[in-house]
This record gives sequence, structure tokens and C-alpha cells, in this order.
Amino acid sequence: MAKERRQVVRFLFLKLDPAWRRLPAAEQAEQKEEFGRTIKSFHAKLLLRTYSTVGTRGDSDLLLWQAAENLETLQRLETAVFSTRLGSYFSVAYSYLGMTRKSIYQFPDDPKHEEQLVVQPADNKYLFVYPFVKSRPWYALPKEHRQTAMDEHVRIGRKYPSIRLNTIYSYGLDDQEHVVAFEGDDPGDFLDLVMELRESEASSYTLRDTPTLVCIQMSLWEALDTLGGATVQQFLDLAPAAANGLTPVADVSEVPLGGSKRVYLGTDAIALFNVGGKFYACSDRCTHGRASLSEGVVDPTTCILTCPWHGGKFELATGRPAGGPPVAPVKTYNVKVEGERILVG
Ligand code: FES
Repeated sequence: MAKERRQVVRFLFLKLDPAWRRLPAAEQAEQKEEFGRTIKSFHAKLLLRTYSTVGTRGDSDLLLWQAAENLETLQRLETAVFSTRLGSYFSVAYSYLGMTRKSIYQFPDDPKHEEQLVVQPADNKYLFVYPFVKSRPWYALPKEHRQTAMDEHVRIGRKYPSIRLNTIYSYGLDDQEHVVAFEGDDPGDFLDLVMELRESEASSYTLRDTPTLVCIQMSLWEALDTLGGATVQQFLDLAPAAANGLTPVADVSEVPLGGSKRVYLGTDAIALFNVGGKFYACSDRCTHGRASLSEGVVDPTTCILTCPWHGGKFELATGRPAGGPPVAPVKTYNVKVEGERILVG
């Protein structure tokens, strides 16, 4: 198996200064557009999902959920955001930093606990986020005991198949131990799940799991319009597509002969390959599990991609499965090289 390649993940919650709402309407619209265009300029560099917390929290208005290859990208994004005129009216309400990694517990029978080394958000309407800290006595329990307690957790989670869990690890990186982010379409399902989990043994070792933030997924422009003020609905084209519908995602020099790279297109992670000087792009997520296909191996003679986890094979040109566990094709993208830029769409 290829070496574990993790992502850094950040949940940045922003609160707007109410003074912004008293600015002239034309200025508000201009500032929203500048803010959105600034975020758009980071598209190929990280995965970014936007959520509004207007109407669900009094102390936060906007969530930028980010997943990148390194901390510096997160830093550059925040510097750029706060350098805009609208950014000068935002303050950080909450910030949770962590990384993806494999669980130390085994969940062989539970597809919901596939290893999540690459953040791949679903399209659910709601995201429920909270930081999480276990009490120290939890870590003093024998590993087998903790595994049994986690098995109970999984059994309860299985009763709520509509709720999907993302677990981020923050040990040593931030104040909490984990950030948990549940995706779902029905807040009632999540409420019932959390109530039932309270009765589990593992829950008795929880030291802190607040604040809980209920976030509503929407495009950046829609999220900005939930802040009030002049609307920017006319700028709904968030994706920085070129005239031909393709978007620059990397430089040719970043993907050498025989190499690969994970890039981002809007809210999707894409695996980019250079096979014999020709570039191919497909979804970074294997259709069998959650392996990152950019970490797979391509046979240059057959152009068959082998998944790094269970050996699933795909035809890189078409995405069709060509062996191993996957049965569904992986999505492929058009690729074009213009000068030094690789464009995908
Ligand atoms: S995750 Fe199993 S074959 Fe790719």
C-alpha cells in the first residue's frame, strides 16, 4: 500500500460586523464580488465548501470548509480573504484545524468507516460540526475495551444511514482531539442519532463536544447573500471556467512524465496523470472505497490505473472498471494543455 498521504483540514467560521450592513448597497455588492473572486482564485489549490450559519447560530455567519495539501495554502487563503474590503468586516468566530488519517480502530463490516485520507464531501444540505475531546481515562482503557466501545458506536450509527461522518484528527495541532463533521439532509435524524449516542459507553468518556454548529450548504454567492445587504445573485458563475469550459488546474511542470497530482476543480478533487506525455484526469475518489486515485499506479503500456488500496483497476481514458473490486466507472474529465497550463473540465 502506498505511503499514507494526508490532507490538512480547516473549518473556518466567520462572523460579520453588523456595521457592514449599513454601507451603501452598491458598495456591498462590489465587496461581495471582490470577496468571491478572491476565493475563486484559490480553486485549483484546495477543496473549499461554503456553508451559511445565518439563522442557526448567533455567533457565526459563514463557514469555509477547506482541505489542502499543506498548511501554507490555508494561510495564503486566509490572508487573501482578510485583505479584501468585505474581509475587513469579518472576524474569526471559530477555527478548527486538523488532518485526515486512518483510524486506529477496526471497522471491517462498516462501509461508513472507510478510511478517509482525502476529504470528499457529499452533497447533503446540512453539515453538523463540533470539536471533540475525550477524557484521559478513555486512553487508559485497554485498546480492546475501546474497540468494543467503538463497535457499539458503529452499531448505533448504522441505524441512521442517511448521516455521513467525517472525522478529522487534531492531536497536537489544535485545542481539540478531533473535529467531527456529520453530513445529512434531515436535522431530525442527526438529533436522534446524537441522543442515542449519549447512552453509549464511549460517550461517558467525552470531556467536551461543544459548540455544535449547524451549517447549511450553498454556493459562495448564495452564502454571501444570506448576510443581507445588496445581493450578488448575478455572479452565480463561481467556477473560473475559461471560454472553452475548461479550467486551469496545474502547470505542466507540476506533473512530470509518469507522475500524478491531486488538484481541485470547484468542490471536486481530481487525479491528474501524465502518461507518456499525455495528460488524463479522473475523479480522485475510487468508486469502491475512498482511496485517493492520484496515489495509484498507471501502466504506461495499457493506460490502466490501479487503485492503491485494493488493486481495483480503471481504464484511464474512459473511467471504465477493468478489474478488481470496483463495479462503477470513475468519472473522467476532458484535459487540454495550453502553453504551460493544464486545463480540465
Ligand atoms: S478503494 Fe478499494 S479498489 Fe479502490
